[in-house]
Amino acid sequence: MGRAASISALRGRLPEQAGPGTDEPMTSENTTFEKQRLGVNIDHVATVRNARGEQYPDPVRAALLAVEAGADGITAHLREDRRHIRDADIAALKRDLTVPLNFEMAATDEMVAIALATRPHAACLVPEKRAERTTEGGLDIVGGRAHLAPRIRALAEAGIRVSLFVEPEPAIMEAAAALGAPVVELHTGSYCEAAVAGDDGRIAHELARITRAAQHGAGLGLEIHAGHGLTVDSVGPVAALPQIRELNIGHALIADAIFVGLAQAVRNMRAAMDRGRRA
Ligand code: PXP
Repeated sequence: MGRAASISALRGRLPEQAGPGTDEPMTSENTTFEKQRLGVNIDHVATVRNARGEQYPDPVRAALLAVEAGADGITAHLREDRRHIRDADIAALKRDLTVPLNFEMAATDEMVAIALATRPHAACLVPEKRAERTTEGGLDIVGGRAHLAPRIRALAEAGIRVSLFVEPEPAIMEAAAALGAPVVELHTGSYCEAAVAGDDGRIAHELARITRAAQHGAGLGLEIHAGHGLTVDSVGPVAALPQIRELNIGHALIADAIFVGLAQAVRNMRAAMDRGRRA
């Protein structure tokens, strides 16, 4: 079975999903879905720019094009080592964007100071290790509670909507709610690895984890986002979860853009999300 086929075949085996704001099970008759937001992560445009030490491609131009093509928000991760997005990109995004900027950041004093000076719409706190190729695993919000709490408070007091990038586990939803974060972003990396491997058992297991965490988190009053590793082929079952209000997607969009252009890649992802949500 092909990857897309195996994922869509699994959709019928997902744990029961509640309709938005109701206790009713979701059926094709009662699903009136709220549109899910697509946040486009433009880090890899900066990766290409930096690889040649040039001024192009410009991640801000990519962000504006993505918005024109249907992105509801833009995400950019200013890493400690500035390997892709730079401080000037964040300032330009803040100046030029007409949609919310989601500032992805490590919970360090340096990044908190930049966030407080920039005032993005949202700040997504992520773990950051120097040697990693991308964000690996969610935040340790249980062990890191004492470190995270004052930084979350400082961001929230500045009117920045704080989101915590976490593993999809009910206990972690409890910890996020206890920390006072209004939003969690569920790490979809393990699900996406299973999807790429075409491993139906693992796909079902990972989707069940995401589903349970989304339901539990939403029940605690958290706004649920998700992302990491999602592609046009794998996004459907995650988009289908009514509690998930936003998906943040980067690598697959920039990869697809090589072949179809960024605007078309965004439109294709938007269409795949809408299909998943309606399914
Ligand atoms: N969400 C978070 C918190 C991330 O760290 C990343 C990767 O930068 C993404 C979403 C997007 O992941 P991908 O680039 O694999 O789509």
